[in-house]
Amino acid sequence: MSKLLSPIQIPHLSLDNHVVLSPMCMYEVKKEDGIVTPFHHAHYGARALSKVGLVIIEATAVDPDGRITNQDLGLWNDMQKEGLAELVSLLHGFGTKVGIQISHAGRKAMDAQRPLGPSAEAFNESYPVPHEMTLSDINKIKQAFIDACQRADEAGVDMIELHGAHGYLLSQFLSPLVNQRKDQYGGSLENRYRFVKEIVIAVRAVFKGSLWMRLSLTDFEDEKRQNSIAEWQQIGQWLEADGIDCLDISTGGLLDKKPTIPIYDGYQVPFAAAMKQAVNIPIATVGLLDNPTLCEHILQMGEADLILQGRAMINNVNWLAEAAVALHDSTFTAYNGSYQRGIK
Ligand SMILES: Cc1cc2nc3c(=O)[nH]c(=O)nc-3n(C[C@H](O)[C@H](O)[C@H](O)COP(=O)(O)O)c2cc1C
Repeated sequence: MSKLLSPIQIPHLSLDNHVVLSPMCMYEVKKEDGIVTPFHHAHYGARALSKVGLVIIEATAVDPDGRITNQDLGLWNDMQKEGLAELVSLLHGFGTKVGIQISHAGRKAMDAQRPLGPSAEAFNESYPVPHEMTLSDINKIKQAFIDACQRADEAGVDMIELHGAHGYLLSQFLSPLVNQRKDQYGGSLENRYRFVKEIVIAVRAVFKGSLWMRLSLTDFEDEKRQNSIAEWQQIGQWLEADGIDCLDISTGGLLDKKPTIPIYDGYQVPFAAAMKQAVNIPIATVGLLDNPTLCEHILQMGEADLILQGRAMINNVNWLAEAAVALHDSTFTAYNGSYQRGIK
């Protein structure tokens, strides 16, 4: 039996295998009301039927102005919670565990009426200049995170991932490249971590499921200007102490910049492995992991504990069944006998 397709138990979550659907915005909320649509039922339902261990529903905004676009999902009201609860129930019925990524886009909220950021600097010239968040804005958005996570809990999710990567609001606070604040939320690493810390501790108090956070471990900038790997490891240790159960390690998205690191299959794994050395909680890795043999190698070498699949599972809903063939894993069983007949 392969490690990839065998069960895994992590804090507050047991999964049938080590494969996770990475959160991916579908921009399918055409009514702009943040509510789950039939598209989401079909899209996530099909992936649940593929036997993926955990589905992470796309970045879901805590506030209307926290959406990347107005076609994003939201969780700032109870109608949205009811829509999510129906989706979670459908996916649970297909046997998968369900998580959701909770997010605020900050200065990358393209359609926001009043975009917010730690400092008043735009992502680039086609984005609006955000309002530097006042202490009242900070408290309001913190509460919005807590309320959205409470709604996700009431909707029945097994896992919540706080989006702390890709240049969205939480990562904007963490980075000295974007956070120019002079108050207790800016300056030192400890101060830049404060907003995230307060959210994590408050969410941990209301959510008993598995609480994850996604981080970008490089912004493709000079090591002296961006957070260094040692500083990210420090943040990882603080997150562990504050109640995070798993870290999902990605890169980039903070600045309008192309990657300056080599891009190859598994290119983000070294960042996951670096975080794994610093903490005692499980680490998820993501990015160009289409090859099942590479995924198995990463798990066997202990470089990461979970494998997230993004584009590979947009492209190929049968990724797990094909991985079982590639890994000669005869223990994998498809959703039902008819699907099993499709595995050659
Ligand atoms: C269409 C699309 C939407 C995405 N939306 C999100 C998102 O909502 N949240 C997030 O953290 N990452 C998002 N990502 C990044 C993916 O989760 C993943 O990290 C990235 O695609 C690399 O993994 P892959 O090579 O397996 O695709 C998105 C990627 C794609 C292609």
